[in-house]
Amino acid sequence: MKNIVFVFKYLKYYFSSVSKHGVHSPFVFDLVVNVFEDKKIYTEYQQIEELRIKLTSSSQVIDVKDYGAGSVINGSSKRKVGDIARNSAKSPKYGQLLFRLVNRFKPQNIVEIGTSLGISTLYQSLHFDGVKLTTLEGCPQTAELAKANFKSLNVTNIKLVIGNFDESLESVLENLKSVDYVFFDGNHRKEPTIKYFEQCLEKTHNDTIFVFDDIHWSDEMEEAWKWIKNHKKVTVTIDLFFLGLVFFRKEQVKQHFLIKH
Ligand SMILES: C[S@@+](CC[C@H](N)C(=O)[O-])C[C@H]1O[C@@H](n2cnc3c(N)ncnc32)[C@H](O)[C@@H]1O
Repeated sequence: MKNIVFVFKYLKYYFSSVSKHGVHSPFVFDLVVNVFEDKKIYTEYQQIEELRIKLTSSSQVIDVKDYGAGSVINGSSKRKVGDIARNSAKSPKYGQLLFRLVNRFKPQNIVEIGTSLGISTLYQSLHFDGVKLTTLEGCPQTAELAKANFKSLNVTNIKLVIGNFDESLESVLENLKSVDYVFFDGNHRKEPTIKYFEQCLEKTHNDTIFVFDDIHWSDEMEEAWKWIKNHKKVTVTIDLFFLGLVFFRKEQVKQHFLIKH
């Protein structure tokens, strides 16, 4: 049943979303043309996708500290690394979109909530010399694999913090003067998503970008997304169905875009 509802939601998005021709905001139009529709094959894509292939074919089994859809640890379970790579990491299409967002906006301080094996982390940091990325993961064995993945691609601008987001996010933010970009990709429930949003909001500036994963994944995430869109500090939002982008630019009128991607 949940799957059917999801397909309907996607169809609704598909038929009501617009292409660049339906976008009148110059800021969003530029984003659609130069970021969403940028078809260039960057060398980083290949490097990261080669790593993904290695991970998806791995039969190594690890103990996963399971947070379920929440912050309560449900115990640990044995999982194949290959399955984690297939099920948890952002797909090439969206990983590459994250790469292009970082490439376009050149954020310096990035926070990522939800590392898993580090595929999206790499898309947002590989060869971006100006980037300092702090990524948060609760499962120690998954985090160790992510660290090895960063090392295998010689990436040194990532700091990985192991712990429950409910504690680790606060201490990470305490040590940052401001955040330029945050990717929210873990603990997909309403209350934690809003809580992490509010915590990160304290460190935003006019050009900060928030990217939310799986905004239509469940009723709770729909509610969180709606709440975030209505927040008084949020101006522009862009719904790409599998990702939601949030901007705080005061020069923009408050407007929500549904864009085909
Ligand atoms: C969807 S995965 C991240 C995928 C990754 N961003 C990518 O695209 O490659 C979410 C991760 O968040 C972690 N997680 C979920 N809830 C957590 C919590 N409350 N505290 C710490 N880690 C948590 C899980 O262990 C999981 O590895």
